Amino acid sequence: MRSRARSALTRVTRHAQAGGVVLDGVGKRYPGRRGEPDVEAVADVDLEVAPGEFVAVVGASGCGKSTLLRILAGFESQTSGVVEVGGRPVTGPGSERGVVFQDYGLFPWLTVRENVTFGPRQRGVPRQTARRHALEVIETVGLSRFTDRFPGELSGGMQQRVAIARVLANDPALLLMDEPFGALDALTRTQMQHELRRIHRETGTTVLLVTHSLEEACYLADRVVVMSGGASHGVPGHVSQVVTVDLGDERDVNGESFNALERRLVAAVHGEESAP
Ligand SMILES: Nc1ncnc2c1ncn2[C@@H]1O[C@H](COP(=O)(O)OP(=O)(O)O)[C@@H](O)[C@H]1O
Ligand SMILES: [Mg+2]
Repeated sequence: MRSRARSALTRVTRHAQAGGVVLDGVGKRYPGRRGEPDVEAVADVDLEVAPGEFVAVVGASGCGKSTLLRILAGFESQTSGVVEVGGRPVTGPGSERGVVFQDYGLFPWLTVRENVTFGPRQRGVPRQTARRHALEVIETVGLSRFTDRFPGELSGGMQQRVAIARVLANDPALLLMDEPFGALDALTRTQMQHELRRIHRETGTTVLLVTHSLEEACYLADRVVVMSGGASHGVPGHVSQVVTVDLGDERDVNGESFNALERRLVAAVHGEESAP
């Protein structure tokens, strides 16, 4: 993991290959409602993510994690700074950026396979091609036996797998995930973390994962971005630390170095939480 992350980092140039992210002086200000002052959700965010890198974003609630992700997804635009993916400015949503939220966002009236082929079909991918590829990604997430089921017939973990498969069907260069496993029970969550790690290794896609779980961040990421502040703290959300996860490929969540790193992240997040 370490050497892969390193080589990915040395490969990155400012206008990088597909999936590379550049945030340069990014800020987002929401207009205040009914005479209230504007809300400066985030400010001065500088971050580069190398193609293929896995970056986790952590921080107390309200510090602007989702705002950053939505900007990268193209759901809303920054009010200052530069936002680029794959060397191109983000101007709106695009299928090369796959987004996975905590609520799965599946179409309940479509089967698993239909949910997965929906996006590619909309983009004009021929039916047979879309179908073939759908079966592949459904296999990738371990749901081959459930292709004809409807979301309502599946557990939360399985529905989240469908949501991931649906995004993978577009061969995204960048996977944007906002607390994707937050609604899952602990066991399923652990399983999904393994899956995500494997998918990241197999596809080489860049991943930006917002998570509340510092253990999840340590387990999965090459680097962890710690954010702090937020409108409720009277300062805009910003990046306060970027921690490189030097834990190698096989990570033992009970290991000495793993726990040390997790404690360091707790301090980084918690220390900032209690700051004025
Ligand atoms: N559409 C919006 N209008 C006004 N304020 C918003 C809007 N979306 C988010 N905010 C504010 O921006 C700040 C950051 O929110 P968010 O990005 O959701 O934080 P996080 O995901 O880290 O919990 C919060 O203070 C939130 O209230
Ligand atoms: Mg959020």
